[in-house]
Amino acid sequence: MRDQVILVTGGAGGIGGEVSRRLEQAGARVAVADLAEVRTGAPGFRCDITDAASCDETAEAVVHRFGRLDGLVNCAGVSRPHDSLTLPPAEWARMVDVQLNGAFYIAQACARRMADTGGAIVFITSTNAEAAFPRRAAYCAAKAGVAMLTKVLAIEWAAQGIRVNAVGPAYVATEMTRRNIAAGNVNEEQIKARIPLGRLAQPDDVAGAVEFLLSRQAAFITGQSLYVDGGWLAYGYF
Ligand SMILES: NC(=O)c1ccc[n+]([C@@H]2O[C@H](COP(=O)([O-])OP(=O)(O)OC[C@H]3O[C@@H](n4cnc5c(N)ncnc54)[C@H](O)[C@@H]3O)[C@@H](O)[C@H]2O)c1
Repeated sequence: MRDQVILVTGGAGGIGGEVSRRLEQAGARVAVADLAEVRTGAPGFRCDITDAASCDETAEAVVHRFGRLDGLVNCAGVSRPHDSLTLPPAEWARMVDVQLNGAFYIAQACARRMADTGGAIVFITSTNAEAAFPRRAAYCAAKAGVAMLTKVLAIEWAAQGIRVNAVGPAYVATEMTRRNIAAGNVNEEQIKARIPLGRLAQPDDVAGAVEFLLSRQAAFITGQSLYVDGGWLAYGYF
């Protein structure tokens, strides 16, 4: 990763923060973009990924600051479980906006700056791109959309030398999960019992997969979703 310039969205959050630290340790020059204030050491940019103009300004600012752009990790996201029968249209639209539309806007803004040099994009999806959970219709549909977006952009941008992959975690021990546990949306003991490896993912489990997919070791891997789930999706027993 030495001297590679990587933009990490959602970098003020649990997964994005850990991805930023790990990529910096690997020698990358990391820029962090988030709606919230960024507290890592990396240069921070305020960006709302649901706003295509904000994505474009951020990608341009990163190129201005570092001279180039080699990669994007899209970790920005929200989780708000809600019954589907009563889900307000605005809530549905907001979820799709952040999780799916935003993923496209920031990827497009970055790919435009990597089209001459090549690069790599990693979307953070979820096991919910494959496995249905109740009260998460918009989240699951949007994540499944990003898994397909990963494939489409991978085959389209292969001509520009841009690889596009996704990392899909099961429950990760971050603020997002802590909020869901506190709100009664998630039962931690039930989850641990459902995961063959018997624990939540740590942010570093996710960051390791991201680093691999950005690296030259993954030079011939594109259009793939790599699930970091302790065996959740494989498990089909009781
Ligand atoms: N935590 C989990 O268990 C888990 C599991 C699977 C997938 N994921 C996915 O991983 C990603 C990161 O999750 P996390 O656990 O680090 O959550 P988090 O809440 O700790 O961090 C998310 C970050 O995204 C930022 N963000 C939200 N909306 C934004 C927007 N419109 N523009 C820019 N930034 C925005 C927030 O400010 C926050 O800093 C999300 O896409 C989430 O869906 C999380």
